[in-house]
Amino acid sequence: MKTMNILVFSLLCCLSSKSVLSSSDHYNAIFNFGDSYSDTGNFLITGALAYPEIKNLPYGETFFHHATGRCSNGRLIIDFIAEAFGLPYLPPYLAVAEGPPVRMGVNFAVAGATAIDASFFSAQNITLWTNDSLNVQLGWFKSLKSSLCTTKQECDEYFKKSLFLVGEIGENDYSFSFLFGRTIEQLRPLVPQIVGAIIRAVSILIEEGAVNLVVPGQLPTGCFSLYLTLFQSANESAYDPKTGCLKAYNALFKYHNNYLKQELQKLREQYPHARVMYADYYGASISIYRTPKFYGFYGGALRACCGGGGPYNYNNSASCGNPGSTACEDPSAFVDWDGIHLTEAAYHFVSKRLFYGGFTSPPLLS
Ligand SMILES: *[C@@H]1O[C@H](CO)[C@@H](O)[C@H](O)[C@H]1NC(C)=O
Ligand SMILES: *[C@@H]1O[C@H](CO)[C@@H](O)[C@H](O)[C@H]1NC(C)=O
Ligand SMILES: *[C@@H]1O[C@H](CO)[C@@H](O)[C@H](O)[C@H]1NC(C)=O
Ligand SMILES: *[C@@H]1O[C@H](CO)[C@@H](O)[C@H](O)[C@H]1NC(C)=O
Repeated sequence: MKTMNILVFSLLCCLSSKSVLSSSDHYNAIFNFGDSYSDTGNFLITGALAYPEIKNLPYGETFFHHATGRCSNGRLIIDFIAEAFGLPYLPPYLAVAEGPPVRMGVNFAVAGATAIDASFFSAQNITLWTNDSLNVQLGWFKSLKSSLCTTKQECDEYFKKSLFLVGEIGENDYSFSFLFGRTIEQLRPLVPQIVGAIIRAVSILIEEGAVNLVVPGQLPTGCFSLYLTLFQSANESAYDPKTGCLKAYNALFKYHNNYLKQELQKLREQYPHARVMYADYYGASISIYRTPKFYGFYGGALRACCGGGGPYNYNNSASCGNPGSTACEDPSAFVDWDGIHLTEAAYHFVSKRLFYGGFTSPPLLS
């Protein structure tokens, strides 16, 4: 019991303080690829034409007190990761591309980005928010690389001490397809292709010198108020009685995650020198959907904090930031921020579990 208490205490100590790291957990830099779950401003810099709401409050209201381009009220998982490693918040690539080299990390993520190239979707008349897919982001990394290091040896040394995050990415490949009328049955066969695009990006980064890589899976997106509203079912058996989430959608995201895990294992065998970590966003977050109040989310997990009415406070004609929508008083009591993104409090919860809850394998901290 005593050791348990000490263990619990030491966990609590580290959750609240900033970085208490062993020497092997020090990184020089973080490089991040992804979509709106980790974009710290790239999409905003491109004009955010498809989603101008993120230019204004209430986006950013809680932590930064102004809109930064983050699709939340405050910090994202990538921000908590940067804090934990004692590194600055990642600047968006498009803000630093022309300036002096940024040696402590850069964020290539773009809200709305897909894992598969944008042309794949336009060929099917699926209109995306952005063409800055994972491949475009990799191209940005390659052009930045020459400003960071020159010889192969120098680059290897530098990247050996860097942390790379590839994802979360892929959620938009599914969501935009659903919004344009595709069914779960139609998308299931696409899983290998979406995961394949992620795996390809990870192997390119390893070939470029990355050694420490985190590859997150999907969140239980069938719990998000946009999904619950737009893809609602009159059939009660469509809902998971434990959470109220849409079972078939979550099953697709679990299938994606399992497929990704299996492909990552192959990568580990192919590149034994690399530390390829799977981050289980689904597992790290699902308990807040089961017992939100137990974790302090008194507003529940399924209703958006910011929205324009309806059973889940998601209204497609008055989504967060638009006339007719309002933000809740206390976003820290909510899991769902705007229908499709989480609140800072929920991202913080997931981050703690990635660090200390065993939801990253192999573990992110040694
Ligand atoms: C896309 O739209 C164009 C023009 O409406 C149409 O000709 C084409 O068949 C559509 N393609 C698909 C894959 O739906
Ligand atoms: C993406 O590229 C296509 C084809 O070049 C273009 O028509 C479209 O406007 C672009 N979309 C965005 C959001 O930039
Ligand atoms: C509800 O869904 C279940 C399981 O998918 C199915 O067996 C049942 O026939 C559906 N009921 C109705 C009324 O559609
Ligand atoms: C959704 O928003 C529209 C536009 O503001 C409004 O007319 C409508 O009543 C809202 N729906 C709900 C369910 O609140």
